[in-house]
Amino acid sequence: MSINPGKFVLERQLQLWQAVSMYNLKIYTMSLRIGDDAPNFKAQTTEGEIDFHQWLGNSWGILYSHPADYTPVCTTELGRTAQLKEDFAKRKTKVLAVSVDDLDSHFGWVKDINETQNCNVDFPIIADTDKNVATLYQMIHPNASTSATVRSVYFISPDKKVQAIITYPASTGRNFTEILRVVDSLKLTAEHNVATPVDWKVGQDVIIPPGVKQEEVESKYPKGHRVIKPYLRYTPQPDK
Ligand code: BEZ
Repeated sequence: MSINPGKFVLERQLQLWQAVSMYNLKIYTMSLRIGDDAPNFKAQTTEGEIDFHQWLGNSWGILYSHPADYTPVCTTELGRTAQLKEDFAKRKTKVLAVSVDDLDSHFGWVKDINETQNCNVDFPIIADTDKNVATLYQMIHPNASTSATVRSVYFISPDKKVQAIITYPASTGRNFTEILRVVDSLKLTAEHNVATPVDWKVGQDVIIPPGVKQEEVESKYPKGHRVIKPYLRYTPQPDK
């Protein structure tokens, strides 16, 4: 029997291509997306060891990452989080920060944050020295930096599902008015069959989703409605 070297090379190339495809598929399917289960983890934090899901309990949660301790943008962000303590509490939303430095570093940095931002940081900051949480939540984007996390924000519902994700580069501080606004929209739309329009704020009219038949609108939205186009219909915020 004669061996065809060309066929052997082709088969080998095919095997390699399949292996590369499977690897890419694995990377692709590993990314966290809206609707996915929020991965659980145990971590050391400035408020003691926590089991993420247990710590969340029945609350909504925000898990957000910081490139490193003692960095200027993060200092202002953690300060703002502390200043907004009542706003998060009112929304039954717990906030958990991640930074890959150790606990000693976190404690020293928290003193600086309290001093410079005129606040009292009393929410947990994870000491993610082994990058376990950063890896689980894909907070390191290698083409931005191979070691520092980007500024990820994960919004997690009480059933521990990822409901929204916002990602900023290290050089752009987050907008906490927007973060609170997203929580308001997520909570409202989880409880009522509505959507929130551009720049929506609590108290403003909301949108009746296209899936609702016009003949059902009056009974389902008793506060009234406005039809701008058959697909663009507004109703007052149902819970206000
Ligand atoms: C920071 O404060 O975290 C930061 C500032 C500039 C570039 C990258 C990070």
